[in-house]
Amino acid sequence: MVRILIKEMEEYAKKEKIPIMLPDGIAYLEQYLKEHNIKKILEIGTAIGYSAIRMANVNEEIEITSIERDQNRYQKAIQNIEAAGYQKRIHVKLCDALEFETEEQFDLIFIDAAKSQYIKFFEKFDQNLKQGGTIVSDNLDFHGFTKMETRIESKNLRQMVNKIRNYIEYLKNNKNYQTTFLEIGDGIGISVKQ
Ligand SMILES: C[S@@+](CC[C@H](N)C(=O)[O-])C[C@H]1O[C@@H](n2cnc3c(N)ncnc32)[C@H](O)[C@@H]1O
Repeated sequence: MVRILIKEMEEYAKKEKIPIMLPDGIAYLEQYLKEHNIKKILEIGTAIGYSAIRMANVNEEIEITSIERDQNRYQKAIQNIEAAGYQKRIHVKLCDALEFETEEQFDLIFIDAAKSQYIKFFEKFDQNLKQGGTIVSDNLDFHGFTKMETRIESKNLRQMVNKIRNYIEYLKNNKNYQTTFLEIGDGIGISVKQ
């Protein structure tokens, strides 16, 4: 049942050009949740609920708070989460993540929203991550552009890529976290709180 819904969501995302996690990226994340016994997750960037449903599908103890600022995507996510029957375990908040306040503590925080704000997300939610917890950042390769050595012509794209490069440097220099960079999906950072 959920498997069919997941397939339908993949097709919908492709048709509507909604950026959801790439297949090997989400498969890696699912495995990570299993291996590290992750129970409480904060996701920044729900879109239509695809990665949240895939993560909740790993086991019944997983509980997710997910933030989305786009009204239409939020509505679609709510529909999909109800169709999956996961409404008691996935709580979607309609707001800008930078305005979201919580005192909850999470085992894992998954950052998959506006690339230009990754450092702000990281710094804001660091206090909500348990000791030994993990921050997962998606899209660090940004379709190969972050590692491109030649000058990027488009100014907007260049600025975006520079923000992601700054974020990668920020992770490398952050002594409170040990970050591993994986060439999986669109490039994933796994930052473990020391
Ligand atoms: C890449 S998509 C998320 C994909 C989803 N995690 C998945 O794999 O199924 C990024 C989403 O983050 C949302 N977003 C971007 N910046 C945000 C912010 N500051 N607060 C909340 N949502 C944001 C966008 O509207 C978009 O739907």
